[in-house]
Amino acid sequence: MKTKHIAVIVGSLRRESFNRMLANAIVKLAPAEFAFKQLAIGDLPLYNQDDDADQAAPVKRLKTEIAAAQGLLFVSAEYNRSIPGVLKNAIDHASRPYGKNAWAGKPAGVIGVSVGANGTAMAQQHLRNVLAYLDVPVLGQPEAFIQAKDGLFDGGGELGQDSKVFLQNWMDKYVAWVKRHVA
Ligand SMILES: Cc1cc2nc3c(=O)[nH]c(=O)nc-3n(C[C@H](O)[C@H](O)[C@H](O)COP(=O)(O)O)c2cc1C
Repeated sequence: MKTKHIAVIVGSLRRESFNRMLANAIVKLAPAEFAFKQLAIGDLPLYNQDDDADQAAPVKRLKTEIAAAQGLLFVSAEYNRSIPGVLKNAIDHASRPYGKNAWAGKPAGVIGVSVGANGTAMAQQHLRNVLAYLDVPVLGQPEAFIQAKDGLFDGGGELGQDSKVFLQNWMDKYVAWVKRHVA
């Protein structure tokens, strides 16, 4: 079976990020034909349209990595009821210059964990809005709004038993979604 390469974009730069932990844990629930790579977004400059004709090296790298992927997996924090600026910055960079949107057509999943009870629901809704404009087909169901609380992870950063059952189902649906779009 042909390997499906998935670009993982984590919407947090925090060293001990729950979202990075979640990203690291859920990729283990995918079948062996799926290969995941987290893309670095922390070294991107602030987006400036003046630079579209001469994008910085980290921007070129990001776009090349997205181009090499067959699917996308966004695992993001929620900041002030929306997506963190670092994530929006990365999305904007790779969407430009006009007509060279690297995200377009790549099947995506959106998931996230926050300390608040809404589990990044509002950030995910905003992200879906952005991705719809960028022509990214996003898995609709199941939604996964995850709250960081005891039992989500065990001491070693692996998923707790209950979260594992829920997230295995989510990953199975994500895998099917990607396969529906990618030969
Ligand atoms: C600037 C800022 C805004 C935040 N806004 C929200 C929010 O709107 N909703 C929420 O549930 N948590 C919010 N939080 C708390 C985050 O859920 C928490 O910091 C979480 O650990 C971020 O994800 P990370 O661990 O992957 O960095 C906010 C945190 C920061 C630093």
